[in-house]
Amino acid sequence: MKTQYWQVNPTCPEKEIIIKAANLIKAQELVAFPTETVYGLGAAAFQTQAVEKIFMAKGRPEANPLLLHLSRMEQVESVAKEIPPVAEMLMERFWPGPLSIILSARETVPAIVRGGKTTVGLRMPAHPVALALIDQTGPLAAPSANLSGRPSPVNAEDVKADLDGKIAAVLDAGRTGLGLESTIIDFTSRGCRILRQGGITVEELEEATGMAIAINDRGQEQYHHYQTNSQLLLCQTWEEIENSLADIKHAKKKLALVYTYVEKKNARWESLKDKYPQHQSYDLDISSASNRLYSLLREAEEREFELLLFTPLPEKPGGIGRVILDRIYQAARGSSK
Ligand code: TXA
Ligand code: MG
Repeated sequence: MKTQYWQVNPTCPEKEIIIKAANLIKAQELVAFPTETVYGLGAAAFQTQAVEKIFMAKGRPEANPLLLHLSRMEQVESVAKEIPPVAEMLMERFWPGPLSIILSARETVPAIVRGGKTTVGLRMPAHPVALALIDQTGPLAAPSANLSGRPSPVNAEDVKADLDGKIAAVLDAGRTGLGLESTIIDFTSRGCRILRQGGITVEELEEATGMAIAINDRGQEQYHHYQTNSQLLLCQTWEEIENSLADIKHAKKKLALVYTYVEKKNARWESLKDKYPQHQSYDLDISSASNRLYSLLREAEEREFELLLFTPLPEKPGGIGRVILDRIYQAARGSSK
């Protein structure tokens, strides 16, 4: 199949392009679209055959459920059985926005969307293109638009690298703002718990609900292995970095240094850069560079770096920094396999 790429205005999407994309969705095809977090791969949520195509295109295990992307509050009741008052309050407060809410599902939601579970994850993305598309098509089942196990795509080129020829079209609205996925909060077990950290921080959720919220993202691990070819080496101390750089084993590898910092750069890196000018280096601000990480991982692969050496990571960054750290650890786990 020849994938079509359509440039679309990110703030004020052209109606005729949205209609063309919506027509493909209605014809049970897959269309990748931008959200405020990462690009999604959309299919008509109630068309089982269309949803099946998502799993085939991505190489995604069928037991891994998909998030339903909505554009209007009224759609919630048609797919969720019960809406706990706290969940409703969070929708009102954070939607549209990077928060996905797991509720018990109505039987109208196809089993393939739920991954065979009795629950469904709901999200209303804060992106004019996504909202305009969903308004035309109704709820979309949509995972991130990458091959299973690859970093989520933050622009149309990333989508192309993974899915060209496998999907009908890509709505290209440039780079996404956040560059990390939505937070997932589950209301179907006792109380509520965070299954995946993301765009809405734990602090924001605790402030909004007035309660402490448990983070239990272990259940997600099975779906979160990046199969990156660049091995990530997370150094805990400066000595470890120096030793690694001096290590003959590593010296033979094509490696890049990732200088991590929080808000202010540390003068010590610059000395490392001078000392090892032969190595490519990247700067990564852990407190704010949420949309740099996935691009960096993809670029490292493209440039065939065998080793990514990270300078010491902050122990307990707050807010979005904690999410960036979470993804770095996942990538490190995935790359050591
Ligand atoms: O920001 C995002 O959430 C992006 C954009 C495209 O919306 N979407 C995204 O989807 O990251 P995906 O499929 O790549 O990740 C969704 C995660 C998966 O790990 C899936 O297992 C989990 O959400 N999930 C979906 N429905 C669930 C459910 N009913 N119960 C538990 N986990 C669920
Ligand atoms: Mg994904």
